[in-house]
Amino acid sequence: MSEEVKTNIEQNELNKKDITILAIESSCDETACAIVRNGREVISNVINTQIAIHTQYGGVVPEIASRKHIENINPVIKKALTDANMTWDDIDAIAVTYGPGLVGALLVGVAEAKALAWALKKPLVGVHHIEGHISANFIQHKELEPPFAGLVVSGGHTHLIKVLDYGEYEIVGRTRDDAAGEAFDKVARAVGLGYPGGPKIDKLSKEGNPDAVQFPRAHVDDAPYDFSFSGIKSAVLNYINQAEMKGETINKADLVASFQKAVVDALVSRAVKLAKESGYNNLAIAGGVAANSCLKETLEKECEANGIKFYSPTPALCTDNAAMIGAAAYYEYIKGTRHGLDLNAVPNLKLGERI
Ligand code: KG4
Ligand code: ZN
Repeated sequence: MSEEVKTNIEQNELNKKDITILAIESSCDETACAIVRNGREVISNVINTQIAIHTQYGGVVPEIASRKHIENINPVIKKALTDANMTWDDIDAIAVTYGPGLVGALLVGVAEAKALAWALKKPLVGVHHIEGHISANFIQHKELEPPFAGLVVSGGHTHLIKVLDYGEYEIVGRTRDDAAGEAFDKVARAVGLGYPGGPKIDKLSKEGNPDAVQFPRAHVDDAPYDFSFSGIKSAVLNYINQAEMKGETINKADLVASFQKAVVDALVSRAVKLAKESGYNNLAIAGGVAANSCLKETLEKECEANGIKFYSPTPALCTDNAAMIGAAAYYEYIKGTRHGLDLNAVPNLKLGERI
């Protein structure tokens, strides 16, 4: 932890002033609001998920997501305050995800947060969505502090990072094509499991043999920490096409279990390598795919075998939520990050970038 952050935390403790942040998240298909104290304690956490609506279309329809956010955002914020038994007087700052994500969806949260900050005269803190995912670990593991190795695996991102300090990252590996969650979703659709694919593949894989089909484990030359999942995905699609042409029935459970193992192997080998080579000897995972039971079990075993301390949030804190945004916002807030009313949605915001 940097001296500056440490001093600010100590100062807060001396002043006995808790910092209570109301955080808003609307980057994809979840409208969420949470109230978080001192970055680690969740007072309330409300999520309105649109999954049932987007399932009908096989994936998130951005226009529908934005409209639903507009309908849901005020009731979700009201419920977060009611659940916390708080009023606006108890809130020190308003935080909001301003990127990356779907621009129309992000804009709903950003506009709402700006309106609240202006009307209530509260500070506004914009948060990077992936910084939020990583910070879910601070809620779950009160003792966890940077530096540590991080694996971020969501529907849009697959990053191996060094978390140098709160809000300070070095990206050491990334996917060259599909994100891990995207591969799960595309394979699930091809097999006929529907959206979102990750949890469905996770469940069905428990009934299958992960060694039934051998799928390729891609390596990127000269980039040992980079990933590539499009090859595995194409191999699954080819397997299905060939079986169809030959009139053979596919054992779906075996197929998805073998696919899942190939993805998990790629993630685990690189994450463990980073945790060891960085010298941190600890690893935290984050993002929707971090909810995957096979990934967690394999990492738990591999980390134990290699003397690495392993951290993961509960599944509810892995997928999109606003509590993680409130956790990240606290560390930004005490560092002095404040946004003006010109804050805009940035759909391709880079990790570590500040706008
Ligand atoms: O982090 P997240 O909720 O949203 C993004 O920021 O993208 O991640 C969503 C992704 C989806 O691709 C979903 O299929 C995947 O996380 N996911 C899972 C599991 N739960 C969600 N993937 C594998 N196993 C799971 N149990
Ligand atoms: Zn996410």
